[in-house]
Amino acid sequence: MTSPGHTLSLLVILGVGTLAAPESSSRALNQLPADFIFGAGTASYQVEGAWNEDGKGENIYDHWLHNNPNLTVDGSNGDVACDSYHKYETDIQLAKNLSVSAYRFSISWSRILPTGDTNVVNQKGIDYYNNLINGLLENDIEPLVTMFHFDLPQKLQDIGGWPNPRLVDYFVEYARILYDNFGDRVKWWQTINEPSSVIMGYSGSPALAPGIDSSGVGDYMAVYTLLKAHAAAYRLYDEQYRATQQGKVGIALNIMWYEPATNSTADIAAADRKLQFYAGIFGHPIFSAEGDYPEVVKQRVANNSRADGYARSRLVEFTPDEVEYIRGTADFVGVNHYTSFPASDGQSGSNPSMDYDAGVTLGAFTDYPVSAALWFRNIPWGFRKTLNWVNQQYPGYPIFVLENGWPDSGEMEDQGRIDYYTAYLSEMVKAMNEDGVDVIGYVAWSLMDNFEWGTGFTIRYGIHHVDFDDPDRKRTPKASFAVLEEIFRTKTIPEQYFR
Ligand code: NOJ
Repeated sequence: MTSPGHTLSLLVILGVGTLAAPESSSRALNQLPADFIFGAGTASYQVEGAWNEDGKGENIYDHWLHNNPNLTVDGSNGDVACDSYHKYETDIQLAKNLSVSAYRFSISWSRILPTGDTNVVNQKGIDYYNNLINGLLENDIEPLVTMFHFDLPQKLQDIGGWPNPRLVDYFVEYARILYDNFGDRVKWWQTINEPSSVIMGYSGSPALAPGIDSSGVGDYMAVYTLLKAHAAAYRLYDEQYRATQQGKVGIALNIMWYEPATNSTADIAAADRKLQFYAGIFGHPIFSAEGDYPEVVKQRVANNSRADGYARSRLVEFTPDEVEYIRGTADFVGVNHYTSFPASDGQSGSNPSMDYDAGVTLGAFTDYPVSAALWFRNIPWGFRKTLNWVNQQYPGYPIFVLENGWPDSGEMEDQGRIDYYTAYLSEMVKAMNEDGVDVIGYVAWSLMDNFEWGTGFTIRYGIHHVDFDDPDRKRTPKASFAVLEEIFRTKTIPEQYFR
């Protein structure tokens, strides 16, 4: 596999790395616009701890991991995690030291609404996020706030969780509380983080709460509710808050890159299908000109459902009114991108399942460096292709990269992370400066080591090391910190790294 950036790399090696970028820009090819937003990210359950303090309600991860401690490889959970509930001022300093202009964090729904509904509003939870937001702004750091990052209030799971369409109403009322309390200062909202990961909690995934196995049925029901919940929260903002608060609302889609394993028509179609089943299923209804699920998803699920004798498609199809309600409900496309896979036409997964419906088998690019999370390799060109794909599929929407980062086992001399970030950032800059893709921001995952779901604390994404044996959860910058700090401060990929 040759990298699309090969020719450019040659130019840079030859010392012509300051060639002007296309369009009217006078930027060098390795430079970002002066107003580009660099940030670092975390999420509530992964860092906050204080799982039952100050009136917080139980969420599905509290519930799931207290009842099934063996579901994380190290038997851990997020009860204490990085203790960010008590150490948020330190976290703000870490972000400041890293020269970011934005910090992405999520709000724990059950810390604000312990029952999931507005019958109980926990003022101490609101105080916590007010302190965090105010502290960030005092340090000139923009809060990028995720409303929902996997930690659903357990009370809402008790009534079925995301497959229950009534969750739309609960989510929109939660969003209203957030706009009312924080919207005067928060200008960047993401409704839902990685909906394609959220639904895996209903496909029998052993690593993701609530761990319900309704594969190929409940996961599609969750897709439907999540899309309507996102649209409702966006429309609420648009109609009642935008005029006064003047912020932006988007969603964070996880988009891996799937490269056709061969040049065959079948493999090319399979790679595209995989993108549509995992990214397009959420992206197309919101961002495409025509709205609705991708046609290939509608057809395949309907056909498989019919063939197996179901009364209707297992995909919960939208009415024309619903298509219109969801279409266009975002101000930007949030993209979480990590790695790439070769894709071939072929059956995978059990029936019924989304994998089975997609009919794609994935391999591995074994020539590329592998991370501590063995499925994950450093394949920089896949990032450029992902950004171009999003730009081509959803034209007119600026792209905000909301997660990108490298997992290891916690090394302080984290050369693998340096290699990954510098290569991926180079590919992003090429997508912008050479291909004309409108990327407005980039958030590194993660500001610090944290609770990495099913792999507990064994897999680390942090730019800061966290000592989880220390009651004080001491944070220490790793080697990658200095490299990223320079890139974030100068908005330039140093020529030694620009490939
Ligand atoms: C996706 C998720 O949003 C985040 O919670 C997780 O830690 C990272 N990617 C790494 O797996």
